[in-house]
Amino acid sequence: MVDWWVQFIKALWILFPAYAANGFPPLAGGKRPLDFKKNFIDGKRILGDGKTIEGTLLGLTIGFLIGALETLVYPFLNAYAIEFNTYLPSMSLFIGLMISLGALTGDITASFVKRRFNLPRGANVPLLDQWNFIIGAVFFTIWFTEITPFMFVIMLLMTPIVHRLTNIVAYKTGLKTEPW
Ligand code: CTP
Ligand code: MG
Repeated sequence: MVDWWVQFIKALWILFPAYAANGFPPLAGGKRPLDFKKNFIDGKRILGDGKTIEGTLLGLTIGFLIGALETLVYPFLNAYAIEFNTYLPSMSLFIGLMISLGALTGDITASFVKRRFNLPRGANVPLLDQWNFIIGAVFFTIWFTEITPFMFVIMLLMTPIVHRLTNIVAYKTGLKTEPW
């Protein structure tokens, strides 16, 4: 039987820096587009105005800091996990950076794909919008820490729910004008 509770905790361990890297860019109020307003060979914007230098740097920084925090508490939390005959996937400054880089790369790649399909900035594409940064973070990190298929499935399943809940909270607290 899969120890789903343990897998859930391990998934969260990898998700926290990824959520930070993905959640903070909108707060940067970025004005400088990453693509310098340039068009791709199809005549459409490479990425669009929704991917900015400021947002990307803020996401990278906060994601890295959460990874650094996890690196700091790793020895204590892992010692606790070992008491329950399990362990946490390894974490380091490098792994935290890779999670953040991967999350942002996944998000930027999705914007590139959306622009190729002629979708304007902010167009909602269900699942692609919620999964892009998870897939990016996992792809960048799976070589350096433990990410089991079961952990990956948990990440994919819980992220749209977390996304929905944070949007409702952002709406109730006045951070956003619509609850989606
Ligand atoms: N943002 C940013 N830099 C990033 C990612 C996001 O500045 N690398 C900011 C932008 O202001 C963006 C907002 O966060 O509008 C929301 O991010 P997201 O939903 O990823 O972008 P969209 O505006 O929906 O654009 P796209 O259609 O390209 O996904
Ligand atoms: Mg969006």
